[in-house]
Amino acid sequence: MHDLYHELKKLAESDNYPFHMPGHKRNTTSTPFEGAFRCDITEIDGFDNLHDETGLILDAERRANKLYGAKETYFLVNGSTCGVLSAVSAAASMGETILAARGSHKALYHAAYIRNLDIKYLPYKMNSKYEIPEAYTAEDIRPYLPKDIAALFITSPTYEGKCSDIAEIAALCHEKNIPLIVDAAHGAHFGFGSASGINRSEKTSKDYASVPESAVAQGADIVIHSVHKTLPSMTQTALIHINGELIDKELVKRYLRIYQSSSPSYILMASIEQCMEEMEKNGTEYIDKLLNYRNYISEETSALKNINLPGPDEIDDPCKVLITDASGTMTGQQIYDILRTEYALQLEMAGTRTALAIITGSDTKEGIERLIEALKNIDKKIEEVKKSNIEGKSGNLFKNSNIAEIVRIRDIPPYKMKLSKAWNAKSEVVSIDKACGRISAEFINLYPPGIPIIVPGEVLTEEIVSEIKNCNDKNLNLQGIINIDKKQSAEIGVKVMVDF
Ligand SMILES: Cc1ncc(COP(=O)(O)O)c(C=O)c1O
Repeated sequence: MHDLYHELKKLAESDNYPFHMPGHKRNTTSTPFEGAFRCDITEIDGFDNLHDETGLILDAERRANKLYGAKETYFLVNGSTCGVLSAVSAAASMGETILAARGSHKALYHAAYIRNLDIKYLPYKMNSKYEIPEAYTAEDIRPYLPKDIAALFITSPTYEGKCSDIAEIAALCHEKNIPLIVDAAHGAHFGFGSASGINRSEKTSKDYASVPESAVAQGADIVIHSVHKTLPSMTQTALIHINGELIDKELVKRYLRIYQSSSPSYILMASIEQCMEEMEKNGTEYIDKLLNYRNYISEETSALKNINLPGPDEIDDPCKVLITDASGTMTGQQIYDILRTEYALQLEMAGTRTALAIITGSDTKEGIERLIEALKNIDKKIEEVKKSNIEGKSGNLFKNSNIAEIVRIRDIPPYKMKLSKAWNAKSEVVSIDKACGRISAEFINLYPPGIPIIVPGEVLTEEIVSEIKNCNDKNLNLQGIINIDKKQSAEIGVKVMVDF
Protein backbone atom coordinates (compact mmCIF):
# COMPACT_ATOMS: atom_id res chain seq x y z
CA MET A 1 0.00 0.00 0.00
CA HIS A 2 1.31 3.46 -0.91
CA ASP A 3 0.73 5.38 2.29
CA LEU A 4 3.00 7.14 4.76
CA TYR A 5 3.11 4.25 7.22
CA HIS A 6 3.96 1.63 4.61
CA GLU A 7 6.52 3.86 2.91
CA LEU A 8 8.23 4.45 6.26
CA LYS A 9 8.16 0.73 6.96
CA LYS A 10 9.64 0.00 3.55
CA LEU A 11 12.40 2.53 4.16
CA ALA A 12 13.16 1.06 7.58
CA GLU A 13 13.55 -2.39 6.09
CA SER A 14 15.62 -1.25 3.11
CA ASP A 15 19.37 -1.01 2.74
CA ASN A 16 19.13 2.80 2.48
CA TYR A 17 21.62 4.47 4.86
CA PRO A 18 20.73 7.89 6.35
CA PHE A 19 23.44 10.55 6.05
CA HIS A 20 20.87 13.17 6.98
CA MET A 21 18.74 14.31 9.88
CA PRO A 22 17.45 13.23 12.39
CA GLY A 23 20.50 12.62 14.53
CA HIS A 24 19.34 9.20 15.85
CA LYS A 25 19.79 7.82 12.31
CA ARG A 26 16.87 5.41 12.60
CA ASN A 27 19.18 3.32 14.76
CA THR A 28 16.89 1.39 17.13
CA THR A 29 19.64 0.90 19.69
CA SER A 30 19.98 4.70 20.03
CA THR A 31 16.38 5.18 21.15
CA PRO A 32 14.21 3.48 23.75
CA PHE A 33 11.05 4.07 21.64
CA GLU A 34 10.66 0.73 19.96
CA GLY A 35 6.91 0.72 20.46
CA ALA A 36 6.17 4.45 20.56
CA PHE A 37 2.36 4.08 20.69
CA ARG A 38 2.63 2.40 24.07
CA CYS A 39 3.55 5.71 25.68
CA ASP A 40 1.75 8.24 23.45
CA ILE A 41 -0.42 10.27 25.82
CA THR A 42 -1.52 13.85 26.39
CA GLU A 43 -1.78 15.90 29.63
CA ILE A 44 -3.22 13.28 31.97
CA ASP A 45 -2.99 13.41 35.75
CA GLY A 46 0.54 13.20 37.04
CA PHE A 47 2.26 14.04 33.76
CA ASP A 48 2.60 17.86 34.03
CA ASN A 49 1.78 20.45 31.31
CA LEU A 50 4.33 21.89 28.86
CA HIS A 51 2.54 25.25 28.79
CA ASP A 52 2.54 25.70 32.55
CA GLU A 53 5.08 23.24 33.85
CA THR A 54 5.46 22.54 37.56
CA GLY A 55 6.44 18.87 37.80
CA LEU A 56 7.97 16.24 35.52
CA ILE A 57 8.45 18.58 32.55
CA LEU A 58 9.90 21.40 34.64
CA ASP A 59 12.38 18.95 36.18
CA ALA A 60 13.40 17.69 32.74
CA GLU A 61 13.82 21.26 31.45
CA ARG A 62 16.00 22.10 34.44
CA ARG A 63 18.20 19.10 33.79
CA ALA A 64 18.60 20.18 30.14
CA ASN A 65 19.29 23.72 31.31
CA LYS A 66 22.16 22.50 33.50
CA LEU A 67 23.81 20.92 30.47
CA TYR A 68 23.78 24.13 28.44
CA GLY A 69 24.08 26.62 31.29
CA ALA A 70 21.45 29.20 30.28
CA LYS A 71 19.21 31.17 32.64
CA GLU A 72 16.12 29.35 31.39
CA THR A 73 15.58 26.43 29.01
CA TYR A 74 12.23 25.36 27.58
CA PHE A 75 11.31 22.23 25.62
CA LEU A 76 9.94 22.72 22.11
CA VAL A 77 7.80 20.13 20.34
CA ASN A 78 7.24 22.17 17.16
CA GLY A 79 10.92 22.34 16.20
CA SER A 80 13.23 25.32 16.13
CA THR A 81 10.58 26.88 13.90
CA CYS A 82 8.38 27.76 16.91
CA GLY A 83 11.52 28.77 18.85
CA VAL A 84 12.46 31.31 16.17
CA LEU A 85 8.88 32.61 15.93
CA SER A 86 8.69 33.04 19.71
CA ALA A 87 12.17 34.55 20.10
CA VAL A 88 11.62 37.18 17.41
CA SER A 89 8.09 37.96 18.62
CA ALA A 90 9.32 38.46 22.18
CA ALA A 91 12.35 40.55 21.20
CA ALA A 92 10.63 42.89 18.71
CA SER A 93 7.39 44.77 19.31
CA MET A 94 4.87 45.20 16.49
CA GLY A 95 6.31 47.32 13.68
CA GLU A 96 9.91 47.40 14.92
CA THR A 97 13.02 46.53 12.88
CA ILE A 98 15.19 43.45 13.18
CA LEU A 99 18.69 43.06 11.74
CA ALA A 100 19.31 39.67 10.11
CA ALA A 101 21.31 37.83 7.49
CA ARG A 102 19.51 37.31 4.18
CA GLY A 103 20.07 33.56 4.47
CA SER A 104 17.98 33.22 7.63
CA HIS A 105 15.50 30.35 7.92
CA LYS A 106 11.97 31.09 6.69
CA ALA A 107 10.71 31.15 10.30
CA LEU A 108 12.47 34.53 10.68
CA TYR A 109 10.57 35.89 7.67
CA HIS A 110 7.32 34.44 9.00
CA ALA A 111 7.88 36.10 12.37
CA ALA A 112 8.48 39.40 10.55
CA TYR A 113 5.22 38.89 8.66
CA ILE A 114 3.18 38.12 11.78
CA ARG A 115 4.72 40.99 13.80
CA ASN A 116 4.72 43.54 10.94
CA LEU A 117 8.48 43.96 11.27
CA ASP A 118 10.96 45.57 8.94
CA ILE A 119 13.98 43.40 8.25
CA LYS A 120 17.24 45.22 7.79
CA TYR A 121 19.76 42.90 6.12
CA LEU A 122 23.40 42.31 6.76
CA PRO A 123 25.30 42.27 3.47
CA TYR A 124 24.98 38.88 1.79
CA LYS A 125 28.28 37.09 2.42
CA MET A 126 28.95 34.15 0.11
CA ASN A 127 31.83 31.67 0.12
CA SER A 128 32.49 31.59 -3.62
CA LYS A 129 34.72 28.51 -3.48
CA TYR A 130 31.83 26.32 -2.32
CA GLU A 131 28.88 28.63 -3.07
CA ILE A 132 27.68 28.51 0.52
CA PRO A 133 26.75 31.28 2.98
CA GLU A 134 29.64 32.55 5.08
CA ALA A 135 29.86 33.25 8.81
CA TYR A 136 29.96 36.77 10.28
CA THR A 137 32.48 38.53 12.51
CA ALA A 138 31.66 41.42 14.86
CA GLU A 139 33.47 43.77 12.43
CA ASP A 140 31.16 42.69 9.58
CA ILE A 141 28.19 43.64 11.72
CA ARG A 142 29.37 46.80 13.50
CA PRO A 143 28.50 49.27 10.67
CA TYR A 144 24.94 47.88 10.39
CA LEU A 145 23.98 47.98 14.03
CA PRO A 146 22.24 51.28 14.86
CA LYS A 147 20.67 51.72 18.29
CA ASP A 148 17.07 51.48 17.04
CA ILE A 149 17.28 47.81 16.10
CA ALA A 150 15.03 45.57 18.24
CA ALA A 151 17.34 42.55 17.94
CA LEU A 152 20.09 40.98 15.87
CA PHE A 153 19.26 37.56 14.42
CA ILE A 154 22.23 35.36 13.42
CA THR A 155 22.29 31.77 12.16
CA SER A 156 25.29 29.96 13.59
CA PRO A 157 26.24 27.31 12.65
CA THR A 158 24.96 27.65 9.11
CA TYR A 159 23.44 24.63 7.42
CA GLU A 160 26.90 23.83 6.04
CA GLY A 161 28.63 24.17 9.43
CA LYS A 162 30.14 27.66 9.40
CA CYS A 163 30.16 29.44 12.77
CA SER A 164 30.03 33.18 13.39
CA ASP A 165 32.05 34.77 16.16
CA ILE A 166 29.17 34.77 18.65
CA ALA A 167 31.18 35.92 21.71
CA GLU A 168 32.35 39.11 19.96
CA ILE A 169 29.01 39.71 18.25
CA ALA A 170 27.23 39.35 21.63
CA ALA A 171 29.66 41.84 23.22
CA LEU A 172 29.02 44.29 20.36
CA CYS A 173 25.22 43.94 20.75
CA HIS A 174 25.42 44.36 24.51
CA GLU A 175 27.38 47.64 24.17
CA LYS A 176 24.13 48.96 22.65
CA ASN A 177 21.67 46.97 24.78
CA ILE A 178 20.51 45.06 21.73
CA PRO A 179 19.57 41.40 22.31
CA LEU A 180 21.28 38.78 20.18
CA ILE A 181 19.16 35.84 18.98
CA VAL A 182 21.20 32.92 17.67
CA ASP A 183 19.46 30.39 15.47
CA ALA A 184 21.69 27.44 16.40
CA ALA A 185 19.21 24.89 15.07
CA HIS A 186 22.17 22.89 13.74
CA GLY A 187 24.34 23.27 16.85
CA ALA A 188 22.65 21.35 19.70
CA HIS A 189 25.81 19.20 20.01
CA PHE A 190 28.09 22.23 20.47
CA GLY A 191 29.80 22.51 23.85
CA PHE A 192 29.78 18.74 24.48
CA GLY A 193 32.87 16.54 24.52
CA SER A 194 36.10 16.77 26.42
CA ALA A 195 37.67 19.67 24.51
CA SER A 196 34.93 21.85 23.05
CA GLY A 197 35.48 25.38 21.89
CA ILE A 198 38.63 25.60 19.82
CA ASN A 199 38.94 29.07 18.33
CA ARG A 200 39.05 29.76 14.62
CA SER A 201 42.72 30.86 14.82
CA GLU A 202 43.81 27.62 16.51
CA LYS A 203 42.36 25.42 13.79
CA THR A 204 45.46 24.68 11.81
CA SER A 205 45.33 20.89 12.11
CA LYS A 206 43.81 18.68 9.42
CA ASP A 207 41.89 16.90 12.16
CA TYR A 208 38.87 18.00 14.15
CA ALA A 209 39.85 18.09 17.83
CA SER A 210 36.48 19.26 19.21
CA VAL A 211 33.08 20.67 18.42
CA PRO A 212 32.68 24.47 18.67
CA GLU A 213 31.58 26.22 21.84
CA SER A 214 27.84 26.65 22.36
CA ALA A 215 26.26 30.04 21.61
CA VAL A 216 24.78 29.95 25.15
CA ALA A 217 28.27 29.88 26.68
CA GLN A 218 29.32 32.67 24.31
CA GLY A 219 26.74 35.08 25.72
CA ALA A 220 23.87 35.12 23.21
CA ASP A 221 20.57 36.27 24.75
CA ILE A 222 18.38 33.64 23.10
CA VAL A 223 19.65 30.41 21.53
CA ILE A 224 17.46 27.94 19.66
CA HIS A 225 18.61 24.34 19.22
CA SER A 226 16.96 21.64 17.09
CA VAL A 227 17.83 18.67 19.28
CA HIS A 228 16.65 16.40 16.47
CA LYS A 229 19.14 17.60 13.88
CA THR A 230 22.45 16.46 15.37
CA LEU A 231 21.61 14.62 18.61
CA PRO A 232 19.78 11.34 19.13
CA SER A 233 16.23 12.68 19.47
CA MET A 234 13.01 12.54 17.49
CA THR A 235 12.08 14.90 14.67
CA GLN A 236 10.49 18.20 15.88
CA THR A 237 12.29 18.14 19.23
CA ALA A 238 14.11 21.37 20.08
CA LEU A 239 15.13 23.69 22.92
CA ILE A 240 15.03 27.42 23.50
CA HIS A 241 17.50 28.95 25.97
CA ILE A 242 17.23 32.42 27.49
CA ASN A 243 20.23 34.25 28.94
CA GLY A 244 20.84 37.68 30.48
CA GLU A 245 18.37 40.48 31.22
CA LEU A 246 17.54 41.85 27.77
CA ILE A 247 14.81 39.32 27.03
CA ASP A 248 11.55 39.03 28.97
CA LYS A 249 11.21 35.29 29.60
CA GLU A 250 7.50 35.64 30.38
CA LEU A 251 6.97 37.09 26.93
CA VAL A 252 8.90 34.20 25.34
CA LYS A 253 6.73 31.78 27.29
CA ARG A 254 3.57 33.59 26.13
CA TYR A 255 4.57 33.22 22.47
CA LEU A 256 5.50 29.58 23.00
CA ARG A 257 1.96 29.00 24.27
CA ILE A 258 0.66 30.70 21.11
CA TYR A 259 2.90 28.99 18.55
CA GLN A 260 3.13 25.48 20.02
CA SER A 261 0.53 22.76 19.92
CA SER A 262 -1.90 22.65 22.83
CA SER A 263 -1.49 18.86 22.69
CA PRO A 264 2.28 18.53 22.95
CA SER A 265 3.50 15.00 22.35
CA TYR A 266 4.83 13.28 25.44
CA ILE A 267 6.86 10.99 23.25
CA LEU A 268 8.66 14.02 21.85
CA MET A 269 9.18 15.52 25.30
CA ALA A 270 10.40 12.19 26.68
CA SER A 271 12.70 11.92 23.69
CA ILE A 272 14.32 15.28 24.59
CA GLU A 273 14.60 14.13 28.20
CA GLN A 274 16.22 10.82 27.17
CA CYS A 275 18.54 12.59 24.77
CA MET A 276 19.68 15.02 27.48
CA GLU A 277 20.24 12.14 29.88
CA GLU A 278 22.26 10.35 27.23
CA MET A 279 24.37 13.47 26.60
CA GLU A 280 24.87 14.00 30.32
CA LYS A 281 26.10 10.44 30.80
CA ASN A 282 27.75 9.67 27.47
CA GLY A 283 28.07 13.03 25.70
CA THR A 284 31.86 12.86 25.62
CA GLU A 285 31.79 9.43 23.97
CA TYR A 286 29.13 10.63 21.51
CA ILE A 287 31.30 13.57 20.45
CA ASP A 288 34.48 11.46 20.42
CA LYS A 289 32.75 9.00 18.12
CA LEU A 290 31.69 11.85 15.82
CA LEU A 291 35.23 13.30 15.77
CA ASN A 292 36.78 9.89 15.12
CA TYR A 293 34.37 9.23 12.25
CA ARG A 294 35.02 12.66 10.75
CA ASN A 295 38.80 12.36 11.01
CA TYR A 296 38.71 8.81 9.66
CA ILE A 297 36.74 10.00 6.61
CA SER A 298 39.37 12.73 6.03
CA GLU A 299 42.23 10.29 6.39
CA GLU A 300 40.71 7.74 4.03
CA THR A 301 39.85 10.30 1.35
CA SER A 302 42.90 12.57 1.60
CA ALA A 303 44.68 10.90 -1.33
CA LEU A 304 41.73 11.21 -3.71
CA LYS A 305 42.53 13.19 -6.85
CA ASN A 306 39.21 14.98 -7.34
CA ILE A 307 36.85 14.54 -4.41
CA ASN A 308 37.72 17.01 -1.70
CA LEU A 309 36.20 17.32 1.80
CA PRO A 310 36.98 20.70 3.40
CA GLY A 311 38.31 20.27 6.95
CA PRO A 312 38.37 22.33 10.16
CA ASP A 313 40.13 25.30 8.57
CA GLU A 314 37.06 25.84 6.37
CA ILE A 315 34.08 24.10 8.02
CA ASP A 316 33.73 24.50 11.80
CA ASP A 317 31.23 21.73 12.55
CA PRO A 318 32.53 18.15 12.18
CA CYS A 319 28.94 16.90 11.67
CA LYS A 320 28.87 18.54 8.25
CA VAL A 321 30.78 16.58 5.62
CA LEU A 322 30.84 18.84 2.59
CA ILE A 323 31.73 16.89 -0.54
CA THR A 324 33.04 18.68 -3.59
CA ASP A 325 34.70 17.74 -6.86
CA ALA A 326 37.76 19.97 -6.92
CA SER A 327 38.35 19.19 -10.61
CA GLY A 328 35.02 20.82 -11.52
CA THR A 329 33.87 17.81 -13.53
CA MET A 330 30.88 17.00 -11.38
CA THR A 331 28.32 19.21 -9.64
CA GLY A 332 27.24 18.67 -6.04
CA GLN A 333 23.85 17.50 -7.33
CA GLN A 334 25.52 14.85 -9.48
CA ILE A 335 27.57 13.55 -6.55
CA TYR A 336 24.40 13.49 -4.44
CA ASP A 337 22.44 11.64 -7.15
CA ILE A 338 25.14 9.01 -7.70
CA LEU A 339 25.46 8.37 -3.96
CA ARG A 340 21.70 7.92 -3.73
CA THR A 341 21.02 5.86 -6.84
CA GLU A 342 24.17 3.73 -7.07
CA TYR A 343 25.13 3.35 -3.41
CA ALA A 344 21.81 3.83 -1.52
CA LEU A 345 23.41 6.63 0.51
CA GLN A 346 20.90 9.43 1.13
CA LEU A 347 22.61 12.75 1.81
CA GLU A 348 21.09 15.82 3.44
CA MET A 349 21.23 18.15 0.43
CA ALA A 350 23.11 19.19 -2.68
CA GLY A 351 24.12 22.52 -4.15
CA THR A 352 25.91 23.53 -7.32
CA ARG A 353 29.37 22.82 -5.99
CA THR A 354 28.78 20.63 -2.95
CA ALA A 355 26.83 17.69 -1.62
CA LEU A 356 26.29 17.63 2.14
CA ALA A 357 26.35 14.54 4.36
CA ILE A 358 25.50 14.86 8.05
CA ILE A 359 27.30 12.51 10.43
CA THR A 360 26.74 12.19 14.18
CA GLY A 361 27.85 10.02 17.08
CA SER A 362 24.90 7.70 16.23
CA ASP A 363 26.37 6.65 12.88
CA THR A 364 27.76 3.17 12.43
CA LYS A 365 31.26 2.25 11.29
CA GLU A 366 29.63 0.27 8.48
CA GLY A 367 27.77 3.37 7.23
CA ILE A 368 30.93 5.49 7.35
CA GLU A 369 32.87 2.79 5.44
CA ARG A 370 30.14 2.73 2.78
CA LEU A 371 30.46 6.48 2.29
CA ILE A 372 34.26 6.30 2.03
CA GLU A 373 34.12 3.42 -0.45
CA ALA A 374 31.55 5.25 -2.58
CA LEU A 375 33.64 8.45 -2.60
CA LYS A 376 36.69 6.46 -3.70
CA ASN A 377 34.71 4.93 -6.57
CA ILE A 378 33.25 8.27 -7.63
CA ASP A 379 36.74 9.74 -7.60
CA LYS A 380 37.87 6.98 -10.00
CA LYS A 381 34.87 7.65 -12.25
CA ILE A 382 35.73 11.33 -12.39
CA GLU A 383 39.27 10.37 -13.51
CA GLU A 384 37.79 8.25 -16.30
CA VAL A 385 35.49 11.03 -17.42
CA LYS A 386 38.33 13.53 -17.41
CA LYS A 387 40.40 11.12 -19.50
CA SER A 388 37.61 10.40 -21.97
CA ASN A 389 36.99 14.14 -22.34
CA ILE A 390 40.66 14.71 -23.10
CA GLU A 391 40.70 11.91 -25.66
CA GLY A 392 37.58 13.38 -27.24
CA LYS A 393 35.55 10.23 -26.66
CA SER A 394 31.86 10.30 -25.96
CA GLY A 395 30.50 8.98 -22.68
CA ASN A 396 30.54 11.98 -20.42
CA LEU A 397 28.69 10.74 -17.36
CA PHE A 398 27.84 14.18 -16.19
CA LYS A 399 25.55 16.05 -18.50
CA ASN A 400 25.03 19.80 -17.96
CA SER A 401 28.03 19.96 -15.70
CA ASN A 402 29.32 23.30 -16.85
CA ILE A 403 30.09 24.53 -13.38
CA ALA A 404 31.98 27.52 -14.71
CA GLU A 405 28.48 28.97 -15.00
CA ILE A 406 27.69 28.89 -11.30
CA VAL A 407 24.56 30.85 -10.42
CA ARG A 408 25.41 33.70 -8.11
CA ILE A 409 22.94 35.29 -5.75
CA ARG A 410 23.07 39.00 -6.33
CA ASP A 411 22.67 42.04 -4.15
CA ILE A 412 19.59 42.40 -2.02
CA PRO A 413 16.83 43.95 -4.19
CA PRO A 414 15.40 47.43 -3.56
CA TYR A 415 12.86 47.59 -0.74
CA LYS A 416 9.50 49.20 -1.49
CA MET A 417 7.25 48.21 1.40
CA LYS A 418 6.90 45.95 4.40
CA LEU A 419 6.75 42.21 3.91
CA SER A 420 3.47 41.99 5.83
CA LYS A 421 1.78 44.61 3.65
CA ALA A 422 3.00 43.14 0.35
CA TRP A 423 2.25 39.52 1.28
CA ASN A 424 -1.32 40.51 2.23
CA ALA A 425 -1.87 42.77 -0.77
CA LYS A 426 -4.06 42.02 -3.80
CA SER A 427 -1.83 40.21 -6.27
CA GLU A 428 -1.78 38.93 -9.84
CA VAL A 429 0.39 36.49 -11.76
CA VAL A 430 2.35 38.04 -14.62
CA SER A 431 4.81 36.50 -17.04
CA ILE A 432 8.39 36.87 -15.83
CA ASP A 433 9.02 38.88 -19.04
CA LYS A 434 6.52 41.49 -17.90
CA ALA A 435 7.56 41.57 -14.24
CA CYS A 436 10.37 44.10 -14.38
CA GLY A 437 9.68 47.07 -12.07
CA ARG A 438 6.76 45.37 -10.28
CA ILE A 439 6.63 44.74 -6.52
CA SER A 440 6.84 41.07 -5.59
CA ALA A 441 3.90 39.63 -3.64
CA GLU A 442 5.62 36.28 -2.98
CA PHE A 443 8.92 34.80 -1.84
CA ILE A 444 11.04 33.27 -4.57
CA ASN A 445 13.62 30.97 -3.00
CA LEU A 446 16.45 29.02 -4.54
CA TYR A 447 16.93 25.58 -2.92
CA PRO A 448 19.23 24.62 -1.42
CA PRO A 449 19.64 26.26 0.95
CA GLY A 450 16.47 28.34 0.50
CA ILE A 451 17.80 31.87 0.55
CA PRO A 452 15.21 34.23 -0.94
CA ILE A 453 16.04 35.80 -4.29
CA ILE A 454 13.15 38.15 -3.60
CA VAL A 455 10.91 38.83 -0.59
CA PRO A 456 7.36 40.32 -0.82
CA GLY A 457 7.66 44.11 -0.84
CA GLU A 458 10.88 44.16 -2.90
CA VAL A 459 11.15 45.29 -6.52
CA LEU A 460 11.73 42.86 -9.38
CA THR A 461 14.61 44.65 -11.06
CA GLU A 462 16.00 43.70 -14.46
CA GLU A 463 18.87 41.93 -12.71
CA ILE A 464 16.54 39.87 -10.53
CA VAL A 465 14.26 38.96 -13.42
CA SER A 466 17.26 37.65 -15.35
CA GLU A 467 18.48 35.81 -12.24
CA ILE A 468 15.12 34.02 -11.93
CA LYS A 469 15.06 33.16 -15.65
CA ASN A 470 18.64 31.94 -15.46
CA CYS A 471 17.90 29.65 -12.48
CA ASN A 472 14.78 28.34 -14.21
CA ASP A 473 16.65 27.66 -17.49
CA LYS A 474 19.15 25.62 -15.51
CA ASN A 475 16.35 23.58 -13.92
CA LEU A 476 17.39 24.64 -10.44
CA ASN A 477 14.90 24.21 -7.63
CA LEU A 478 13.09 27.56 -7.52
CA GLN A 479 10.15 27.87 -5.16
CA GLY A 480 7.59 30.64 -5.59
CA ILE A 481 7.45 30.75 -9.38
CA ILE A 482 4.29 29.74 -11.23
CA ASN A 483 4.15 27.67 -14.41
CA ILE A 484 1.94 29.27 -17.05
CA ASP A 485 1.09 26.86 -19.83
CA LYS A 486 1.30 28.81 -23.04
CA LYS A 487 0.83 26.88 -26.26
CA GLN A 488 2.57 23.86 -24.78
CA SER A 489 5.79 25.74 -24.02
CA ALA A 490 6.16 26.20 -20.30
CA GLU A 491 6.39 29.86 -19.44
CA ILE A 492 6.99 31.02 -15.91
CA GLY A 493 5.05 33.61 -14.02
CA VAL A 494 5.57 35.47 -10.77
CA LYS A 495 3.11 36.87 -8.25
CA VAL A 496 3.23 40.65 -8.11
CA MET A 497 1.16 43.30 -6.33
CA VAL A 498 -1.71 44.75 -8.31
CA ASP A 499 -0.71 48.35 -9.14
CA PHE A 500 -2.37 50.89 -6.90
C1 LIG B 1 18.92 27.36 10.31
C2 LIG B 1 17.60 26.73 10.63
N1 LIG B 1 16.82 27.30 11.56
C3 LIG B 1 15.63 26.78 11.91
C4 LIG B 1 15.18 25.63 11.31
C5 LIG B 1 13.85 25.06 11.73
O1 LIG B 1 14.10 23.95 12.48
P1 LIG B 1 13.00 22.82 12.80
O2 LIG B 1 12.99 21.93 11.60
O3 LIG B 1 13.53 22.15 14.02
O4 LIG B 1 11.71 23.49 13.01
C6 LIG B 1 15.95 25.00 10.34
C7 LIG B 1 15.48 23.78 9.66
O5 LIG B 1 16.09 23.21 8.80
C8 LIG B 1 17.20 25.56 9.97
O6 LIG B 1 17.98 25.00 9.04
